[in-house]
Amino acid sequence: MRHYPVMLPEVLAALGPKAGETYLDGTFGNGGYSQAILSAADCNVIALDQDPNVRARAEELSKNPSFRFIETPFSAMDQVLGGEKVDAVILDIGVSSMQLDQGERGFSFMRAGPLDMRMSQSGPTASDAVNSLSEGDLSRIFKVYGEEKQAGRIARLIIRARDDGAITTTDGLAGIIERGVGRRGKIHPATRVFQALRIFINDELGELFRGLVAAEAILNPGGRLIVVTFHSLEDRIVKKFLRVRSERPASGSRYMPVAQDEDFAPGFNLKSRSVIAPSEQEVAENPRSRSAKLRLGVRTDVQDLPPLDSLLPRAPVVSDYRWAA
Ligand SMILES: C[S@@+](CC[C@H](N)C(=O)[O-])C[C@H]1O[C@@H](n2cnc3c(N)ncnc32)[C@H](O)[C@@H]1O
Repeated sequence: MRHYPVMLPEVLAALGPKAGETYLDGTFGNGGYSQAILSAADCNVIALDQDPNVRARAEELSKNPSFRFIETPFSAMDQVLGGEKVDAVILDIGVSSMQLDQGERGFSFMRAGPLDMRMSQSGPTASDAVNSLSEGDLSRIFKVYGEEKQAGRIARLIIRARDDGAITTTDGLAGIIERGVGRRGKIHPATRVFQALRIFINDELGELFRGLVAAEAILNPGGRLIVVTFHSLEDRIVKKFLRVRSERPASGSRYMPVAQDEDFAPGFNLKSRSVIAPSEQEVAENPRSRSAKLRLGVRTDVQDLPPLDSLLPRAPVVSDYRWAA
């Protein structure tokens, strides 16, 4: 469980807070990054989060006139800023300890609660998905978003269990999976299915991709894009995005049309090609941080970059379906 901001020293080092600059914290959460940044320099912070549950914490920080909070998905950062530019965008992708700890949010198979998983608390729930999608779609979601080897088998188990009534709770779903595939080793057999459903319901990869594109649009020249991810699906999107936006493709690439190759000037400079990992001390204190990765790009002064082909894996997305009201 994450009870403190992950890789905070590395985030601050990448940011280099300066007086008078404005930073966008796209994933406010418990406000750990925002608070530390405001303490580090006489700067301004605009924080976003799509979870209405963070409002109370945001109100506490709003006593500081240099802090502003907007409740919105970070993919809309360019729209909500209405033309304002910033000197850094910081994204700490994933679920917060608060969200995981509250059983009623339905994120964790270790806590009994409704099978919900919606960060924004609106739209279809994980229960809607589990009870209405086809076996093929569930299998693909578990395989692509959960990298679950037994995706097909688990999808079949779910379809069969639906004959006995709707699956509406976290423990109900975890039990169906555990009874069906058995338990080997330390990791609960429902771990990857829960991750997959959470990514699907919140369209987390689509949000990340659109958030990176929006960040590019609102960063001033010299502005920093700092992204902390927790698993390889997310990190791959950030890595590919920064790669295609930061170097001249040799002869075109899957992501960049060859026709624009000649004129392509990079939108980002990479400070460090390699990914930054948490310190040994942080991993020792919080073993869950071991999978965290930080990537940093610095915005050049190039505007109007060529359009980006999608960097997303091909799997169902939540907006593909019509959900009962
Ligand atoms: C890992 S926590 C961030 C923790 C934060 N850095 C801190 O120091 O407390 C992630 C937060 O981002 C929010 N979030 C995730 N995806 C989002 C999105 N697409 N748009 C806005 N907020 C999002 C979640 O609701 C959650 O509160």
